[in-house]
Amino acid sequence: MVMIEKRRTASILLFAIFLKQIVCSGFGKCPKFAYMDNFNLSRFAGRWYEIERSFYLAQVVSSCVSIDLTENTKGQLEVDVKARSRWSGTLTVSEGLASPTKRDPSKLAYKVVTKLPRMLGQYLPGAGAYQVIDTDYDSYAVLWSCTNYGLAHTDLIWIWGRQRELSADRRIQVYKSLDDVRLDSERLILPRNGNCSETWGDGD
Ligand SMILES: *[C@@H]1O[C@H](CO)[C@@H](O)[C@H](O)[C@H]1NC(C)=O
Ligand SMILES: *[C@@H]1O[C@H](CO)[C@@H](O)[C@H](O)[C@H]1NC(C)=O
Repeated sequence: MVMIEKRRTASILLFAIFLKQIVCSGFGKCPKFAYMDNFNLSRFAGRWYEIERSFYLAQVVSSCVSIDLTENTKGQLEVDVKARSRWSGTLTVSEGLASPTKRDPSKLAYKVVTKLPRMLGQYLPGAGAYQVIDTDYDSYAVLWSCTNYGLAHTDLIWIWGRQRELSADRRIQVYKSLDDVRLDSERLILPRNGNCSETWGDGD
């Protein structure tokens, strides 16, 4: 009896947390942000590392996230997200395909094509439209995704770097870009990356 009560309390609590995250992002529909001028997909391709993010990832996959973008012949990006697992070292947690949208190449429609266990894939941001709000191609990128939920919307911010660390002036540029579109940089959390080079060579 007590066990059941406990479990029920836990699931209500989880639901409440989930609800809070959705409602927290904002009321009304997703805002629309200006497109990047002359976004160049080829220059955006290559290896990126996660610097900061606004969303929660489960412990199992939460550290040392890297993203490989490979341009294919159809002008899409093949996306390969890797993270460090506690148990098995490097782990590919998600594979997908990002297609530039017709109206705006800096807005990418992302589809997950992973054949990996759902259990792992679901911990990463899923399918949807990801907009590159700002990037200089060589050091940082600011990505944003938003989903409408009736009267509210939920969005996520993802900051990538070409290296595992962003220099102070690049970080200022990132925060300025967020500020320009009124996204709150306070929402960003620093992943606990620890020693990432231990897991895999940076040159691979
Ligand atoms: C995109 O960047 C690549 C590599 O720098 C360059 O060769 C290409 O001309 C650029 N494409 C456009 C449309 O500017
Ligand atoms: C990180 O790992 C590398 C390779 O194993 C090692 O040489 C380096 O000392 C480690 N750094 C820290 C801060 O633990």
